[in-house]
Amino acid sequence: MGKNKMEVKNLDFYYDDFKALKNINMPLEENKVTALIGPSGCGKSTFLRTLNRMNDLIDKTKVEGEVLLDGKNIYSSEVDVVELRKKVGMVFQQPNPFPKSIYDNVAYGPRIHGIKDNAKLDEIVEKSLRGAALFDEVKNRLNDSALGLSGGQQQRLCIARALAVTPEVLLMDEPASALDPVATAKIEDLIAELKNNYTIVIVTHNMQQAARVSELTGFFLMGDLVEFDKTDKIFENPADQRTEDYITGRFG
Ligand SMILES: Nc1ncnc2c1ncn2[C@@H]1O[C@H](COP(=O)(O)OP(=O)(O)OP(=O)(O)O)[C@@H](O)[C@H]1O
Ligand SMILES: [Mg+2]
Repeated sequence: MGKNKMEVKNLDFYYDDFKALKNINMPLEENKVTALIGPSGCGKSTFLRTLNRMNDLIDKTKVEGEVLLDGKNIYSSEVDVVELRKKVGMVFQQPNPFPKSIYDNVAYGPRIHGIKDNAKLDEIVEKSLRGAALFDEVKNRLNDSALGLSGGQQQRLCIARALAVTPEVLLMDEPASALDPVATAKIEDLIAELKNNYTIVIVTHNMQQAARVSELTGFFLMGDLVEFDKTDKIFENPADQRTEDYITGRFG
């Protein structure tokens, strides 16, 4: 086992008085891909948002327990949430580029973090677009609107935008569900490439995708983490009947 980049300990999460996550314990290994699976409404997105405190933005929510990043609880009062989200970046289900140029989308985060030097920004933009396997497709149209890109390109742009602030962990909530098979394959190849440098957590409804891209898988059901193990184990020989029922398509 490698080093745990993050560690979730006894995590409970509430929307008002609804308990959406129940005593979750999960290590997130550095430079590995962890997949989160489970039926709609089981708490996958909620769990993902607890990992970079995106849930802080939702009214009347409460977190109990701990989420450690490099051994430090991200919910402790001295944590700077802006810095946290720089380290733990997020990519959403629907590509959501800003209505700005391709270049400005990627430069957005670095600029917010105070980088003004144009040569430096050029370098970051190119590196991030290369990291997201998009540079060659857009290098001659960097000043065109990002909204003119295809859906798959927009999603890779959003990944580039996340990479531009040099995160350590990347959270991806169904990043390929709005994409066709070719664009999906590109995102999967990209994930395989990115895990060399990042710790990745991906939510997916696609069992084959979870099996292809991840080393570890967690199966959620109604706010419980039913089973967490090596991906091969989960898909070939799950310990819990409910996991087996889900991955064989008997429910969900
Ligand atoms: N902002 C919110 N306010 C109140 N309840 C919420 C909110 N967001 C989610 N929930 C509830 O929390 C539970 C978990 O939702 P969540 O979105 O995490 O599920 P999910 O596993 O991501 O589902 P899906 O696969 O459909 O995306 C659901 O019962 C949902 O209705
Ligand atoms: Mg969700």
